[in-house]
Amino acid sequence: MTTPFRDDASLTPPPGCPAHGLGAHGLGADGLRRLYGPEAEADPAALYEKLRAEHGEVAPVLLHGDLPAWLILGHSANLTAMRTPSRFSRDSRRWTAFQEGLVTPDSPLMPVIAWQPLCVFADGAEHKRLRGAVTDGLNRFDRRGIRRYVTRFADQLIQDFGPAGEAELVAQFAEHLPMLVMTHVVGMPEEYGPRLVAAARDLMKGTETAIASNDYVVATLRRMMERKRVAPGADLVSWLMQHEAGLTDDEVLEHLRVVLLAANETTVNLIADTLKMVLTDRRFRAHLSGGHMTLPDALDQVLWDSAPMSLVAGRWATGDTELGGQQIKAGDMLLLGLAAGNVDPVVRPDLSKPLHGNRAHLAFGGGPHECPGQDMGRAIAETGIDILLTRLPDLQLAIPEGELTWTSAWLSRHLVELPVRFTPRAKPAGGAALAVGAVPTTPPPPPPTVAPAMPVAPPVTATVPRQRRSWWSVLTGPFRR
Ligand code: HEM
Repeated sequence: MTTPFRDDASLTPPPGCPAHGLGAHGLGADGLRRLYGPEAEADPAALYEKLRAEHGEVAPVLLHGDLPAWLILGHSANLTAMRTPSRFSRDSRRWTAFQEGLVTPDSPLMPVIAWQPLCVFADGAEHKRLRGAVTDGLNRFDRRGIRRYVTRFADQLIQDFGPAGEAELVAQFAEHLPMLVMTHVVGMPEEYGPRLVAAARDLMKGTETAIASNDYVVATLRRMMERKRVAPGADLVSWLMQHEAGLTDDEVLEHLRVVLLAANETTVNLIADTLKMVLTDRRFRAHLSGGHMTLPDALDQVLWDSAPMSLVAGRWATGDTELGGQQIKAGDMLLLGLAAGNVDPVVRPDLSKPLHGNRAHLAFGGGPHECPGQDMGRAIAETGIDILLTRLPDLQLAIPEGELTWTSAWLSRHLVELPVRFTPRAKPAGGAALAVGAVPTTPPPPPPTVAPAMPVAPPVTATVPRQRRSWWSVLTGPFRR
């Protein structure tokens, strides 16, 4: 690869410099910083600031296997890369490292950047065709309908742990809610939900059972497609299969998989980080109690401060070009630094200043690939948090804030646990339980020969509460002047 990185003498430590041999401490042989490994993963935000100080808006970095890439740190440079597909393509096959055979099949980068016939990797007319089918399908769901499902599933989760008076909200709430809602979006019977949640979690965590879990997700989706071919419903599977874009069966299946996984990981992080902020940040609570900040504003503050995806990998230069003062070569890979761009001092000179109602953050990307599920993600997070705090108004963190921990990988950062306590809440008589947590080992049951009518709109028992400020009042009581 003709990368400019290696020609830049200023980046190479001089002989005798302690940076030599610092591979184990986050530097590659050329003195370039690694985006992977213990140092990078211990504190990604600090690493981004070091890179910003050293290189400005766009920094050369090393990915797994010490493969070079550019990390975009500037808010404006990120927008340029997102909004100029003629210069920055989504097609990973352009990467020089691929063309030179430097990416091994077992590289941890492969699941994210190996090209597939998906909207995510397409540009131009092909992107429009594939994405059009997905967005048309998602746009057919009305917000109020989604909110009713969120309410229903949130209530079921709360019923499961409510009587205990304590819970761990990442594993028992945040990690379940988005996928349960997505099973409805896709058109699956509800009983698939908990097993699919377990499979998706397992898949994303990259455990030794990840391949089996992926097979489970694919087998489940395939069976759903068989059912919907016979008995279409008001759901994404049916709408993708019927769409005028004429998606092949494989394209339908792969886009369903992408939607499920894209929706799950990100929305889980948004829910967990917003709950953490609600429970720990005095300033945040004070703004809410003062009526200056609504829950949607609060979500945007979290989307600025803790983007659910720190990085998007990536964009690939279509020709030699310049970005943020760096000379980019054709075929170079660029990573959208969403978390870094969101704290760019050019747009946020004072990070402590609240950003009420400001949606100019990068958390949903931008340009032609901007997240098509953002309204749904927001609706799931907002309604789920509202229901949780309404049902458990005296919710409190059960451990000191300093004991909360995160795990980071190059693309995102996850809160590990959020233990809470609250006044125990009796389980309503007849409340349906969700068997959460088990990793599925068997494939889903085969569809019946004559598919039954799918439950398009099951009856909803819970309603979204009208009084939205009640739980804020209780939570923020101690902080009122
Ligand atoms: C808080 C929740 C979410 C966040 C933060 C988020 C973030 C993102 C980001 C950063 C991208 C990449 C944009 C780019 O490359 O410029 C993306 C793409 C995508 N997201 Fe989301 N997302 C969320 C929820 C969802 C949901 C709920 C769905 C589906 C219902 C969804 C479906 C997709 C799809 C299909 C793409 C690929 C779009 C394309 O390449 O054209 N996302 N999302």
